[in-house]
Amino acid sequence: MSDLEKRFDLKSLVDKLEKTGDLSDEEFEALIYSEDAEFSDYLKERARAVREKHYGKDVYIRGLIEFTNVCKNNCKYCGIRCGNKNAERYRLTKEEILSCCDMGYELGFRTFVLQGGEDPFFDDDMMVEIIKEIKKNHPDCALTLSIGEKERDTYKRFYDAGADRYLLRHETADKAHYEKLHPADMSFEHRMNCLKDLKEIGYQVGCGMMVGSPYQTKEHIIKDLRFLREFKPEMVGIGPFIPHHDTEYKDEQAGSVDLTIRLLSIIRLLLPDVLLPATTALGTLDPRGREKGIEAGANVVMPNLSPTNVRDKYLLYDNKICTGDEAAECIRCMEMRVESVGYKVVQSRGDHESVH
Ligand code: 5AD
Ligand code: FES
Repeated sequence: MSDLEKRFDLKSLVDKLEKTGDLSDEEFEALIYSEDAEFSDYLKERARAVREKHYGKDVYIRGLIEFTNVCKNNCKYCGIRCGNKNAERYRLTKEEILSCCDMGYELGFRTFVLQGGEDPFFDDDMMVEIIKEIKKNHPDCALTLSIGEKERDTYKRFYDAGADRYLLRHETADKAHYEKLHPADMSFEHRMNCLKDLKEIGYQVGCGMMVGSPYQTKEHIIKDLRFLREFKPEMVGIGPFIPHHDTEYKDEQAGSVDLTIRLLSIIRLLLPDVLLPATTALGTLDPRGREKGIEAGANVVMPNLSPTNVRDKYLLYDNKICTGDEAAECIRCMEMRVESVGYKVVQSRGDHESVH
């Protein structure tokens, strides 16, 4: 086959993906690993067209509050895993969390994301209290939780207290791969069940995987894409794996920025109206990573609202960006970055299209 024919072939695969949302394993593999620059541009172009059909030039902002870096889990890739005795631990008080939200509200945020390790100190009663108070103070805002695996009745209590959305990355859709990345006391089935429960309860759910995590193969990535297509989350958070110096993966290679960006475009075509963040990990590996993500079909950014004195302690991986900036600076910086690629940050809850 000539180069031209191959190119045409790849383009028709993009069109097929856009039309049907489905491809064979071989076709997915060709899309994921093609090194043809013209084809990459075409994929990005289609992903952008689809995102603009649903969301125009709007980019949603989510105010991220990393409220505790205490975690009872020991995921092998993560810098705040419980086994890392070098991590300096912190917890924000309820008052500090509430004041982060107040400040964020003043800055224009209408979605707050409470993210933390699985910290038993924040038990269900305390979380319910915090959720209720945030929703009472800011009834026009959406509240997203990202606090890991819980039991169904706990998820239900949080939902009834006012939480709207939940982020829980599946990390990998392959059970054996999941078991390699996590200690024996964590289970792939439990994580997948959590995602199912969250959806059934009524949350807008976000899942997602690390790109280039240790032992990840192309089959795993294809499985991830098929899982996303089947599960139909409202949001998909993906970012490159980045080694942390206090983990057993400290000498592993980081994931690829190009592959992450390629996958963002593919996910945009698989799930046309999904909320797709350009993540901090992407910005950490490449100074223009988040801009490139937006150019490839991402439509969400998550500036950090945590107080600056704890920012540099929420280190899931090395060299994390934005750890020294005040929230106001961070959002200004984000707005400029988004504008530099022709999009604009909007102040709204930015709900998934199907939720009104
Ligand atoms: N590199 C990249 N992403 C990581 N996460 C955790 N550790 C790392 C790392 N070393 C991601 C996981 C988790 C999210 C909060 O951060 O996907 O779900
Ligand atoms: Fe945080 Fe630039 S986005 S400082």
